[in-house]
Amino acid sequence: MLRRLHHEQPESFAFTPANLAWAEAQMKKYPEGRQASAVIPLLWRAQEQEGWLSRPAIEAVAEMLGMAYIRVLEVATFYFMFQLQPVGSVAHVQVCGTLSCMICGAEDLIGVCKDKIATKAHDLSADGKFSWEEVECLGSCSNAPMVQIGKDYYEDLTAERFAEILDELAAGKVPTPGPQNGRYAAEPLSGLTSLMQHESGKTKYNASVQLASDIGDTVKRIDGTEVPLLTPWIDKGANIGTPPKAPADRVAPKPAHAAKKAPATAKAADKTPAKAEKVAKTDADAPQAGKKPRTMKAPRKAGADDLKMIKGVGPKLEKLLNTLGFFHFDQVAKWTDEELAWVDQNLEGFKGRASRDEWVSQAKILASGEMTEFSSRVKKGNVY
Ligand code: FES
Repeated sequence: MLRRLHHEQPESFAFTPANLAWAEAQMKKYPEGRQASAVIPLLWRAQEQEGWLSRPAIEAVAEMLGMAYIRVLEVATFYFMFQLQPVGSVAHVQVCGTLSCMICGAEDLIGVCKDKIATKAHDLSADGKFSWEEVECLGSCSNAPMVQIGKDYYEDLTAERFAEILDELAAGKVPTPGPQNGRYAAEPLSGLTSLMQHESGKTKYNASVQLASDIGDTVKRIDGTEVPLLTPWIDKGANIGTPPKAPADRVAPKPAHAAKKAPATAKAADKTPAKAEKVAKTDADAPQAGKKPRTMKAPRKAGADDLKMIKGVGPKLEKLLNTLGFFHFDQVAKWTDEELAWVDQNLEGFKGRASRDEWVSQAKILASGEMTEFSSRVKKGNVY
């Protein structure tokens, strides 16, 4: 199959702020100079956001990773999982046409696609809501025939039920995924013959269908707002999977032993009231790390500097910095280590960012009137 860029392309592409933060966090997983390793995750995220990969999206990813456009285009055109043409605004349907599904009725499902969506795979339906394609085995052979719609599998399908599902989606509903013939998971059609003891504790649907129904967004485009559902370690407020420096910045389950240790501390404190008071003070009113730098009530007459020229400072952080009393590069450039620690602690939702992204050294360059590599890209409009 010839895989080319679509003849109609949008003007531009930009990640949503949350997806951009996610993408930057992916890039940090790799050593300096190896950022190209993040090409597939970034392309995939761009596709999850838009539904398909446009030329501007491919070029934006190439810019972010410092790769030649052609290298990223090679990846996008090689893997069939990347859609190079617009897909349905509601859903792109992937019908499994491999052996098990084929002998159990995949051709009937393809017939439904041809009737209700478009006669040719990858063409949009007349209302632009749907598109479809035939794909290789999706690993759900025991529930054949099946299709993938959005992020979920619809299994044990008949042509009639599949047509109904498409109608429900067109009407804005989210049909329950999973087996459509009453089966719980992939047990024999005649019912369970083993593992019967687990019957009592089971949820209404099997595990993946239960999760899908609980989330209820099978065909939603990924814009980054769903990260809390997908990433167990989250920075408070920032919702980015990058590990911050201080463990306190993370929402993490408390270790099981923590609760047990607490009474022991209390007991010891009972015996020595002075110490107990000290312990209480340490916990509740712990002095802030570092020293507060000099701040300003308002920017100088000439106006505030564009702090977003500092790599790692987005619109939210710039606002937060202004609220804290920082408006100019030279203010940031003067922070001592102690002051940097204070700022790091007070970046609510972004703790640790100032030192992680080396704001002080960047600000020194910017305050002297020079440009950093990042600020030059911002000026050229090459930051997405
Ligand atoms: S053959 Fe269709 S899922 Fe495997």
